Amino acid sequence: MSKTILITGSTDGLGKEVARRFAVKGWKVLLHGRNPDKGAAVLAELREQTGNDSLAYFNADLASLADVRQLARDVLANVDRLDILVNNAGIGPRHPDSPRTFSADGYEIFFAVNYLAGYLLARELLPLLRKSAPARIINVASLAQAPVRFDDVMLEHDYSDGLAYRQSKLAQIIHANDLASQLEGCGVTANSLHPATLMNTKMVLDSTVLPQSMTTVDDGANALEHLITAPELDSVSGVYFDMQEKARAEDQAYDESAQSRLRELSEILVAKG
Ligand SMILES: NC(=O)c1ccc[n+]([C@@H]2O[C@H](COP(=O)([O-])OP(=O)(O)OC[C@H]3O[C@@H](n4cnc5c(N)ncnc54)[C@H](OP(=O)(O)O)[C@@H]3O)[C@@H](O)[C@H]2O)c1
Repeated sequence: MSKTILITGSTDGLGKEVARRFAVKGWKVLLHGRNPDKGAAVLAELREQTGNDSLAYFNADLASLADVRQLARDVLANVDRLDILVNNAGIGPRHPDSPRTFSADGYEIFFAVNYLAGYLLARELLPLLRKSAPARIINVASLAQAPVRFDDVMLEHDYSDGLAYRQSKLAQIIHANDLASQLEGCGVTANSLHPATLMNTKMVLDSTVLPQSMTTVDDGANALEHLITAPELDSVSGVYFDMQEKARAEDQAYDESAQSRLRELSEILVAKG
């Protein structure tokens, strides 16, 4: 059956490949990116390659909470159901001495783009996802994880891109686990995923911090496709997957006080943004 899927960060890498796969299946694929020209080019390319004319492109810079809100409004205005939300867009560690940088709202950029944008987007789209149940929320996280530093969440001390990336990725897993508890019984599941280690995407190829790529975007796309479609996962929620296997994330992901603390902090941050 044809479904509707929103994949953030589908102008490149993993998101683009998974968008292509679901376009081939005839799904209504909502593409997203931050560069209108690149978005238009990817939309045209996928339409041409797949013959699917029910693709759409949405532009929003996830480094701006106002843009995230607008993205949610645009999606709500354009579709009457949403079966799958994939929070995939992300930035990776750049260079060894990259300085701490900030979102439009003044938040540490990795926390803002990789985690907080997905938090707000899921919150804003939840009514539609609930209405569309059974539905799935998938956070594309990583096996690179570091506990959220609640006493220094913007990483004013000991900053490195690597630490910022790892904190944002565990935050995504905590978020999925917290959503899973809150959504229990309503037909919307929330899971998180390490797609594959060091895929050959721009994130890895452009970095001078990360080692050489070890896997392909197809490996990650196989893992994400499994989480999107596997019927045996219909009622699986609150699980972290390492590729296609259920796995254990860092301990903080399962700490209910950390889950509620992150939710409360996120509400404060998005309210200020
Ligand atoms: N690559 C790996 O080995 C690996 C391993 C574990 C987890 N992951 C995770 O997998 C996900 C996809 O990564 P990838 O390797 O496919 O990276 P990628 O090729 O760099 O693609 C990232 C996507 O996110 C978009 N994006 C980045 N910042 C954005 C912003 N501020 N607003 C809107 N969109 C933004 C990019 O847009 P542009 O096209 O404009 O750049 C692109 O579409 C990420 O969450 C990453 O952390 C990757």
